[in-house]
Amino acid sequence: MTNKILFIANWKMFGDLDSVKSIKSVINLSKKKKYKKAKIIYCPPYTLLDKFVIKTRKTKLCVGAQNCHQVINTGPYTGAISTTMIKKIGAKYVIIGHSENRSNGETNNQINKKIHSAISNNLNVIFCIGENLFEKKHNRTNNILKKQIYLGLKQIKKIDKIIFAYEPVWSIGTGKILTNKELTKQIIIIKNIIKNLFKKQKTKIIYGGSVNNRNINNLKQINEIDGFLIGGASQNSKKFIDIIKKTIN
Ligand code: 13P
Repeated sequence: MTNKILFIANWKMFGDLDSVKSIKSVINLSKKKKYKKAKIIYCPPYTLLDKFVIKTRKTKLCVGAQNCHQVINTGPYTGAISTTMIKKIGAKYVIIGHSENRSNGETNNQINKKIHSAISNNLNVIFCIGENLFEKKHNRTNNILKKQIYLGLKQIKKIDKIIFAYEPVWSIGTGKILTNKELTKQIIIIKNIIKNLFKKQKTKIIYGGSVNNRNINNLKQINEIDGFLIGGASQNSKKFIDIIKKTIN
C-alpha cells in the first residue's frame, strides 16, 4: 500500500441528523499520530453534506457527495445537484459511476460528462467501475472494465484528481469477495488499462464490495490497492474504526 491509505465511507441512503454525531470517534482517531496515514472521506447523503462539512471543519477528514448531475451549474433538473453546488457547500469529493446508479440507467456517456463537470470544479472524483455477475460468468470482466474506463474518461487528460474504485457489482452487500490472488490480478489488469491511456501518470486505486472488520486483515495484504470504499460497515463508527485500526496497525 502507498503512503496514504484511503478509507471512503459511502453511506448510501442512510443517516440522519443523529448519525452525524457518531463520527466524533472517527475524528478523534484521525488526530492520533499513528493514524496519520489514514485519509478518511465521508460521503453521506445530500441531506447531510453541510452538516458533515461543518462537523469535519478543522479536522483531517474530508467530505464527498455520492453523485452529481452532469450539468455544471444550475438548470431545470428536479432532484438533481450539480458539482458547483457540491463544491460550494464545501465538499471536496464526488462518487461517480456507482453501480447502483449505473443499474438505474446511468450511461458511460453521462458518467463521462459528470467527471468533466467535477474536474472543472476542481473536485476529486471517486470513479467506480466493476462488472456484474452475468458479465463475470461470461468472461466479460476485462472488456467491461476497459469500456467503462475508456468511455468514462473520454477527453480526460489528467488523472491526478481521480481515484479509481474497483467494485465488482456482485460483491456489493453480498459478503462475496474475490480471493486475494484473484483481486490482485484484477487490479493489475485495471492498472494496465489505465497505463495504456495515461502512460506514466500515477494511479490511485481502491477496492469496494463487502469490506468489513472481519475480512480487512486479509484484504490489507494486497499491496496493489490504495484503500477501500466501504458501504454498510462504514455507517457504524465502531466497525469503521475497527477497519482503520486493523489496516494500519
Ligand atoms: P458494501 O460495503 O455495503 O458492500 O458496499 C460497497 C459499496 O457499494 C461502496 O460504494
